[in-house]
Amino acid sequence: MQAITSGAAPVYFNEQIYSEITRYIEQYSPSSVVILTDDNTYADCLPLLLDQINFPMEPNILVMPAGEAFKTMEVTVSIIDELSNLLTDRKALMINLGGGVVTDLGGFVASIYKRGITYINLPTSLLAMVDASVGGKTGVDHGMLKNQIGVINNGAMVGVDIDYLATLPENQMRSGFAEIIKHGLISNKDYWSAVRNFDPGTMEGLDVLIRDSVVIKSDVVLEDPTEKGLRKILNFGHTLGHAIETYSLESDVMDDLLHGEAIAVGMVMETYLSVKRFGFPESSLYDLMNLVRSYYRKVSFPENALEEINTYMLHDKKNVGGRVNFVLLEDIGVHKIDQTIDPELIKEAFEFYVNEV
Ligand code: GLY
Repeated sequence: MQAITSGAAPVYFNEQIYSEITRYIEQYSPSSVVILTDDNTYADCLPLLLDQINFPMEPNILVMPAGEAFKTMEVTVSIIDELSNLLTDRKALMINLGGGVVTDLGGFVASIYKRGITYINLPTSLLAMVDASVGGKTGVDHGMLKNQIGVINNGAMVGVDIDYLATLPENQMRSGFAEIIKHGLISNKDYWSAVRNFDPGTMEGLDVLIRDSVVIKSDVVLEDPTEKGLRKILNFGHTLGHAIETYSLESDVMDDLLHGEAIAVGMVMETYLSVKRFGFPESSLYDLMNLVRSYYRKVSFPENALEEINTYMLHDKKNVGGRVNFVLLEDIGVHKIDQTIDPELIKEAFEFYVNEV
């Protein structure tokens, strides 16, 4: 599968990754190699990586606890302590082997340790393959708010090997698929149609779907690496979606949602807003609803949930001057960024999901 070399960090696929990492190590000649894993990828994915590469020196393996709850400054500092104890210097190479938590936190550690060491992302979840590991966003959560601390800093390369997905739990596969659906909505009708026609039963063509998704993301990031404008479209569905995700994690009266489960709800609501504000085709809204119904359980919200969700939206990173900014669509692939929405219409979109999906 052809590499994507147009972006700040090239993306390699499947077996080519390992020869590229070997070549990179030969050229860069790092003083040491540190591999960051979590409890799951240490057991399920590290053996595959160690099988594929003959490192010129014994890599140091670090293991962080698995899960979003550990994407924190505390864990960041503990990894920095471990690097210091190992006398890791600035010519070290860090390899982040894991899902979005490991690639976000590992990229952040690599960006700030001794003012920055080089790093490579090897995403092992679908979400990290098509989104988190590409584009240089690194960071951690703070309190109840996601990705509040971080920097944009690209690594040396990204390696997407779909063999790592073999051990990924099914709910995490579905969660990651939400970002593929998002790429379908924000890109073009051909990719949207490929997403709609994908059969999760056979998984046939998943590698092509993933590669095309990475191309869509890379092209956006190439044009706007620091999110001054176009890159905001990658947040479609995330203004309501992130707030819903945070609410589900904080609330005692609602089940926790995975990132993609919440983003799927957010995408339905924000597509409804797009229909109302910009005449986005209703038929495509219904196509999206069918897709969302086929991948995700219906989310039930407790009474008064919207009030708290509105409060969480006030912390969205796209906000400027206290204004909640949405990304909306006029059609598949036609964007309207920085849109404010009347609270009554947000309520209508929320009720649309509750009553119609
Ligand atoms: N996940 C959105 C972005 O990378 O901009």
